[in-house]
Amino acid sequence: MWDFPLFPEQASTLAGWVDGVFFYGLGISVFFTTLICFLVIFFAVKYRRGSRADRSNPVTHNTTIEVLWIGIPLMLALVLFFASTFVYYHLIQYPADSSEIYVLGKQWMWEIQHPEGRREINTLHVAVGRPVRLTMTSQDVIHSFYIPAFRVKQDVVPGRYTSMWFQPTKPGTYHLFCAEYCGTLHSGMIGKIVVMEPAEYEAWLQSGTERESMAAEGERLFRQYGCSGCHGRNASVRAPLLDGVYGHSVALSDGRVVKADERYIRDSILLPGSQVVAGYDPVMPTFEGHINEGDLLKIIAYIKSIGNTERAGR
Ligand code: CUA
Repeated sequence: MWDFPLFPEQASTLAGWVDGVFFYGLGISVFFTTLICFLVIFFAVKYRRGSRADRSNPVTHNTTIEVLWIGIPLMLALVLFFASTFVYYHLIQYPADSSEIYVLGKQWMWEIQHPEGRREINTLHVAVGRPVRLTMTSQDVIHSFYIPAFRVKQDVVPGRYTSMWFQPTKPGTYHLFCAEYCGTLHSGMIGKIVVMEPAEYEAWLQSGTERESMAAEGERLFRQYGCSGCHGRNASVRAPLLDGVYGHSVALSDGRVVKADERYIRDSILLPGSQVVAGYDPVMPTFEGHINEGDLLKIIAYIKSIGNTERAGR
């Protein structure tokens, strides 16, 4: 059979909403384009040279028509504004119970890391009905993580973390595209999203050869890179303890108060001079060029994992 779908499947909780806004805008455009084309042709014919149309033009203005042609488009535009704001709000506001998965884009593949330890390339396994939040970064140029069936797309930018979330509603396999031209093999930077039943997903998570969680690997790297020499509990150098720091506010020496999120931790490692914690000397060396993106993500996962333990002062 001839199979040429104009639209991808709707396979996430927000897909229907995104389509709703899209079709509303499309409907308005089609309606007014048709109306204007019709009127252009109608008047061109009616007032063509030599026609006997009335050209005396006696009406100077008509308040009812003026109110309508201002009021109706205003209402249509406001509905579009509120509907798209509502959808955008839900697209960026991820649920608190989202599971977090890390994505690293590079020329020309997607590396995906589950916190439980499993890694995959150009394929992302998720469970149906469970919200997932992706924390993403790039090792080289800008890429864009695009899952048409979920109606989500987000730039993946070197030097910072971007995130997006979705909640799949149907088991199946869906397309994954890079949606930002990123070099010769951009068109080959594709993959698939595999949505599984939760039990199947759990079994899949356990089936890999990777036995260590991201946080455990991060803890090992934390020692290996020497972070624990200053930030550890028994360290001789005076540096802030990192237990419980994730997700909390941190006062900096320049008076700013920042939230300790992924970005803060990343910048603290790569650009330590840019945000010195109040009460400490700017003695931390930069790790720029000494640590790769994958290891950074693991160290961040480790610091997050000790984020819920009791905050210890020193
Ligand atoms: Cu990566 Cu285009």
